[in-house]
Amino acid sequence: MFTRAIVRKPCENLMEGITTADLGKPDYDLALKQHANYVKALEKCGLEVVVLDADNRYPDSVFVEDTAVVTGHCAIITNPGAPSRKGEEIEIREALKEFYSDIETIKAPGTLEGGDVMRVENHFFIGLSKRTNEEGARQLIQYLKKYGYTGSTIPVREVLHLKTGVVYLGDNNILAAGEFIDCPDFEDFNVIAVDDDESYSVNCIRINRYVIVPEGFEKTKALVERAGYKTLEVGMSEFRKLDGGLTCLSLRF
Ligand code: GLY
Repeated sequence: MFTRAIVRKPCENLMEGITTADLGKPDYDLALKQHANYVKALEKCGLEVVVLDADNRYPDSVFVEDTAVVTGHCAIITNPGAPSRKGEEIEIREALKEFYSDIETIKAPGTLEGGDVMRVENHFFIGLSKRTNEEGARQLIQYLKKYGYTGSTIPVREVLHLKTGVVYLGDNNILAAGEFIDCPDFEDFNVIAVDDDESYSVNCIRINRYVIVPEGFEKTKALVERAGYKTLEVGMSEFRKLDGGLTCLSLRF
């Protein structure tokens, strides 16, 4: 059960964020509106939300999930793999100090971004991607063990982060797209396959009684509802232009 979230307002430099999408530049005013609706959705799920000020030094700083891995027992500050994102984690550490006495740190040459970390109960799957390397994953697993958790790695070949392609909904249900639909690591789960033409929408977030889904992906929304969940829709068009999904916009704990 989550009770809190940390988010950061989009900064005016948002349009300079990293992207592989060919969807144009984000509209800043619309991004602000979508972000405010995202915060409202988190609150409707029962979370108390800390909203950090925009940080214009880092165009991608709205995607706070990449800067830390948060658990019930500890927070682990990451070392982002994208050079333009290194440093985002410094203020997140300060924000997390209010809630955690145990804070660990991924150190170079390890790199790790939170988008590559998918928690399934007390196990953490860690994607080895362009942003997260073997050494970053090794350090994370070592920290997790100290607090009674386990971890293992999964190659990420076709998408930005692990959770760009797969999320855990709870109740043994995995929502997966593309390369993760037939992934052997998930053979003991009920894998719900998202259609290729809606693959962006696989990045949903289960929070308490709800699953937040990106607006406009009717087939995925129906799959999630058929699995027994209440859904909340949030417009994500402007963050999608920067390869960002719903999970990327918050740290939930
Ligand atoms: N634009 C989000 C990222 O590439 O990290």
